[in-house]
Amino acid sequence: MRDYIFLYINGREHKVSGEQAFVPVTDYLRYELGLCGTKVVCAEGDCGACTVMIGRLENGTMVYKPINSCIQYLCQLDCSHLVTVEGLKQNGKLNPVQEAMVECHGAQCGYCTPGFVVAMCSMFDEGKPLTACQIKDGLTGNLCRCTGYEPIVAAGLAVDFAEWEPISKLYPAENMLKQFKEYLQKPLHIKSEGKELFVPVTVNEACKFKSEHPQTVLITGGTDIAVNMNKRGLVPEVLLSTSNLPGLSAIDSREENGRTVLEVGGRVTLKQLEDYISKLNEEMKYILWVFGSPQIRHAGTLAGNIANASPIADTPPFLFMMDAEIEVSGVNGSRKIKMTDFYTGYKKLALQPDEMITKIHMPLPLKDEIVRLYKVSRRQHLDISAFTAAIRLKVDQGKIKTAAVAYGGVAAVILRMTAVEEFLIGKEFSLETCREAGKLARSEISPLSDVRGSRDFRLALAENIFSKFYHETAERQLVCQ
Ligand SMILES: Cc1cc2nc3c(=O)[nH]c(=O)nc-3n(C[C@H](O)[C@H](O)[C@H](O)COP(=O)(O)OP(=O)(O)OC[C@H]3O[C@@H](n4cnc5c(N)ncnc54)[C@H](O)[C@@H]3O)c2cc1C
Ligand code: FES
Ligand code: FES
Repeated sequence: MRDYIFLYINGREHKVSGEQAFVPVTDYLRYELGLCGTKVVCAEGDCGACTVMIGRLENGTMVYKPINSCIQYLCQLDCSHLVTVEGLKQNGKLNPVQEAMVECHGAQCGYCTPGFVVAMCSMFDEGKPLTACQIKDGLTGNLCRCTGYEPIVAAGLAVDFAEWEPISKLYPAENMLKQFKEYLQKPLHIKSEGKELFVPVTVNEACKFKSEHPQTVLITGGTDIAVNMNKRGLVPEVLLSTSNLPGLSAIDSREENGRTVLEVGGRVTLKQLEDYISKLNEEMKYILWVFGSPQIRHAGTLAGNIANASPIADTPPFLFMMDAEIEVSGVNGSRKIKMTDFYTGYKKLALQPDEMITKIHMPLPLKDEIVRLYKVSRRQHLDISAFTAAIRLKVDQGKIKTAAVAYGGVAAVILRMTAVEEFLIGKEFSLETCREAGKLARSEISPLSDVRGSRDFRLALAENIFSKFYHETAERQLVCQ
């Protein structure tokens, strides 16, 4: 069993053991290696100043993604290649993105600049020049407090793409991949100063370890756990990183009763899902597009969003509405749990101590079903919801045949609004019916007030969202006809 983390940083090999396995990546870069180009402002994934690229083995090649290094811990980076702003020079000179940022005056105090540069480089590394819209979209996770965004977008447009050298050319991956493949055969176990880290290479090993260490905290993308560690004093004694588990990063699909069902692996990131679903379901595509930022979506996973059990998480309302099932594995094999039975109370899961999520079975709406998803937040991107809703109706000759409704942000857990569903079935699909359904929904919930919205605001949303649903769907259908 290995007792050190093996990774590359800007093309150089590093072995990390002992206490350092438990530090945030930014601390290791800045304090241990003196790579101070990577900045820390918020330390909770909100500003992008700490953006780095992480390369991992995917289908035999090295694939690089932008992530927030302040909310990645070293224990998640075994067998990966980290590229920081210092590692982006081409032939010892500034690369075309860095050149363009200088030429277009894209920096004033410069504190956010390395994060913008790395985020932009990762976009160009996808292999094509960018439009202003794509640049803005790719930079939703990067905040600048003094330059303003116009010169930064202008810099992106001014990049001489012909001069861009892909990261794979700057850092030939052959040797790294050979080593990673070898290291990924065996688990990694580090014990240091009362803390323990286990990085298994099979699900069986993971479940066995969990059964022997019930206090284990699982870390996948880390976008929830690491914020709790950085800001809320969480100090896990025993960490299990899922980063080296094979077979959990794929999305497959099957047909069942005429419906497409996605099978989403327990390590599939939100970005992977967004790309996969983009041609299959417009509504879910939108919800994933406004989820956090590119850096968050490249690290955070669907399984993590479900297991974090927040009543305002953005993906569960769709899963509730679609009767999704969560496949969990434990020492005695695997079983499926209905999404609607998965939460047993506030932040409580129907999981045994040895179990973990390995797959999500996600049915998709049929073409003749009317589906809308709602995320109510103060900003479009990079914001946590105050209220969420998912509504699915099947209407035949003006009458509602089936109804599925889920609300988030109105109780300790996400709710399937069964009384509302029962009320809707058999009724005419009209504004009057939707208004009545909204009133019933309001009477069924008892939300709390918090920083994101008052009880009254949430009650009003719960009622009015049904009228909005009608105007957006029925009236649009009439116009189309
Ligand atoms: C800046 C920022 C913006 C965000 N924006 C949004 C947003 O718009 N909408 C939203 O819903 N959330 C948002 N989040 C929250 C977070 O990104 C998501 O909840 C994400 O899906 C968590 O996935 P993860 O893989 O990073 O989970 P982790 O942080 O690794 O884990 C989260 C929880 O799940 C558990 N867990 C992880 N993997 C498994 C598994 N396989 N089996 C069982 N348990 C597991 C962990 O132990 C932990 O309790 C945001 C977070 C940040 C920092
Ligand atoms: S320091 Fe703000 S996202 Fe990392
Ligand atoms: S240049 Fe100062 S924060 Fe962006």
